[in-house]
Amino acid sequence: MADTSYDIETRCCHYVTDIVNGHPHGAVSVPIYQTATFAHREIGEHPTKDTFTYSRGSNPTRRELEDTLASLEDAGDCVATATGMAAIALVLELFTAGDHVICTYDLYGGAVRIFGEIAPKRQVSFSYVDTGDIAAVREAIRPNTKALYIETPSNPTMKVTDLREIKKLADEYNLLLIVDNTFLTPYFQRPLELGADIVVHSGTKYLAGHNDTCAGFICTSKERKDLAERIRYLCMSFGPTLAPIDSFLVLRGIKTLALRMERQSENAKVIAEWLKKHKKVKKVYYAGYGAMISFETDTEKTALDTLHKVKLVIFAESLGGVESLITYPMIQTHRELPKEQRELLGINEKFLRLSVGIENVNDIIGDLEQALVD
Ligand SMILES: Cc1ncc(COP(=O)(O)O)c(C=O)c1O
Repeated sequence: MADTSYDIETRCCHYVTDIVNGHPHGAVSVPIYQTATFAHREIGEHPTKDTFTYSRGSNPTRRELEDTLASLEDAGDCVATATGMAAIALVLELFTAGDHVICTYDLYGGAVRIFGEIAPKRQVSFSYVDTGDIAAVREAIRPNTKALYIETPSNPTMKVTDLREIKKLADEYNLLLIVDNTFLTPYFQRPLELGADIVVHSGTKYLAGHNDTCAGFICTSKERKDLAERIRYLCMSFGPTLAPIDSFLVLRGIKTLALRMERQSENAKVIAEWLKKHKKVKKVYYAGYGAMISFETDTEKTALDTLHKVKLVIFAESLGGVESLITYPMIQTHRELPKEQRELLGINEKFLRLSVGIENVNDIIGDLEQALVD
């Protein structure tokens, strides 16, 4: 068993269960348990986290992945879901009519879409504020506020929220602190260690890392066994769990998470500096760490030309994989944001988002250079 005292790089590439004794034949790579059901060993046996009876509830390959992520996030428990949106949707089941949630104002558009969808049906209300501004968050708190839902750095304007400060506020008002840690992953940021109650992930991004599968995670704090049990129960009941083959792919991706995160952020630092000096780039949004960069070009034409002219960087929605991707948030990831909110954030027709991959940094810069010329 990978000792939790090992550094995160080691825990990424060694499985967390005792692989020699825990898996048939001592397989070093976790087998894909492609089975819907499991033979019962005893009459009246009830499924638990450690016994396998039916794959909607629990599956050994998925379990290995869940334990791995729990170890990386320093979580008490983790459930793996089919997508990041499935994870977020499941977390919303924790709220009931009359509850109010305060969110970071430039959340991923898909989250905004489902918040808007459930708000009228379930009478749960959502406010969007700059969570980097603690005074603004304090001002938005109402008597019925139940939770703070944070993305940091935010998507796509890379605004940073100080999780230690936000935790103090959450404690003062007894609010649940939920953090979407997709952009940084536990390699760069561990919100549960800073006091968050729940961490959600789009595992589709850096964790899986190869643009070849979708996945999601909900990790719960060691102090909140009640939340862990509730989420596991909801996941088993609603059934948005991750398939064994996808669990295997994410486990394989995580083995190189540390290497990829280092390389991608190293590349991003160089590219952000290069973009800042480019005459056709008016503004660069980069948190100074991580591998996501957004930038505003001088004109709409430059932005559209760039999307058409890139050859190496791929014009596609998503992020976090080994290949660099470029996205047009206004019509892709953030089209769900109300126009006024989008414009306030600067997500306009000149705004592009770059997910920096592991390629040679000079090749990425060369591609952007040729795409940015007239
Ligand atoms: C920050 C963030 N959270 C959640 C999601 C949703 O994840 P998925 O696409 O895996 O459903 C995304 C997707 O782009 C995202 O960027």
